[in-house]
Amino acid sequence: MNVIVFATNNAHKLEEVRRMVGDGMEIKSMAEIGCTDDIPETADTLEGNAELKARYISERYGVDCFADDTGLEVDVLGGAPGVYSARYAGPGHDSAANMAKLLRELDGVDNRRARFRTVIALCRGGRLTTVEGVVEGVIAREPAGNGGFGYDPVFIPDEAGGLSFARMTADAKNAISHRGRAMARLLEIL
Ligand code: IMP
Repeated sequence: MNVIVFATNNAHKLEEVRRMVGDGMEIKSMAEIGCTDDIPETADTLEGNAELKARYISERYGVDCFADDTGLEVDVLGGAPGVYSARYAGPGHDSAANMAKLLRELDGVDNRRARFRTVIALCRGGRLTTVEGVVEGVIAREPAGNGGFGYDPVFIPDEAGGLSFARMTADAKNAISHRGRAMARLLEIL
């Protein structure tokens, strides 16, 4: 069976991607190849961060590898938090703090248009390729739902009849999500 490493420490992302790929390919986590490093995401673009993570693992461990980086882009915030989505409420803050800050910034704002963008970089045989996936939607007025992770309770995709990502099943989210779309393109290449 084909084996490839997904350069992430995020258990939610790993679970989503394994579910999308199914039995056709074995996805190994960083921990499963003995890597516990916290790879610094020092680039100022999603592409840059995805590429540096994929290259880091591929070069040090001699494996084919892919990595993703995701940003939530809010129109009235000029595309913020974007590449800084994980640290929006400051270093060391969690998703609840990030969502609370976002809802504060959008308090009383009617234009809530936003999108999730994922870039996946594949490093195979030393060569880098990137693919992208986007899902359009709006930021809710308050969090709803317990599924998913990150900003899922406050993101309502256009295609889900008003449900937030956190209120959708894993399969329904994956079918339309930024990461699901980027993964579909990656699987065409693989
Ligand atoms: P990163 O790709 O791990 O850097 O993610 C950036 C930020 O977006 C983090 O705060 C994640 O929790 C959040 N994020 C990434 N993917 C998703 C998703 O599928 N749904 C909701 N939030 C996400």
